[in-house]
Amino acid sequence: MPGRFVEYPLDRVHRLFEPGPIVLVSTADDERANLMTNGFNMPVRHSANLALVIGRWDYSFTALRETGECVIALPDRGLLETTVDIGNVSGAEVDKWDRFGLTPLPAEVVRPPLVSECFANVECTVADDRLVADYDLWVLRVEKAWIDPEAADAAEVHHRGDGTFSTNGERIDLRNRMRKWESLTRD
Ligand SMILES: Cc1cc2nc3c(=O)[nH]c(=O)nc-3n(C[C@H](O)[C@H](O)[C@H](O)COP(=O)(O)O)c2cc1C
Repeated sequence: MPGRFVEYPLDRVHRLFEPGPIVLVSTADDERANLMTNGFNMPVRHSANLALVIGRWDYSFTALRETGECVIALPDRGLLETTVDIGNVSGAEVDKWDRFGLTPLPAEVVRPPLVSECFANVECTVADDRLVADYDLWVLRVEKAWIDPEAADAAEVHHRGDGTFSTNGERIDLRNRMRKWESLTRD
């Protein structure tokens, strides 16, 4: 054992990296509009791409494959319990918009609706599905993004990988050290 460390199980390593934020993925096929919960996601390039794991076990997987479109919606703390519940039932069985009392709003570029109750919504198309067969990993192209100006204090929630969640705590402002990346720190 190296020093003070004890071995950590490989099947829990994702909990150390769990990136969040927890998001809702809105899809729509000819049958229905649907929602799923997603915690495995990350930005890939500034203003251009996001990557998400959407597994073949999800009803949303087929809709995304068939239409190539989705909306990624960001819930805040107030919507967290609903967000978890959405990830525990399938659109194959229930109309989740109806069940959870969420309000669809028309998107501008894609067919799946925005989620009115979320503080931000990002319209996406599939940019690259080459890693889907091996990893269920979708690279999405950001087409349009919307933010609720009334919800300036809304903060994303992070899944810690084990059914526990955290919100952003203390905000640490190190913008003055981002010398090489100063352009990223501007509003
Ligand atoms: C907190 C949480 C995080 C989740 N993260 C993911 C994820 O990153 N990728 C995924 O494919 N499923 C994830 N799921 C599971 C899906 O949300 C779940 O399978 C859902 O029922 C799929 O809905 P659908 O069948 O209507 O598409 C998560 C569920 C929860 C509760």
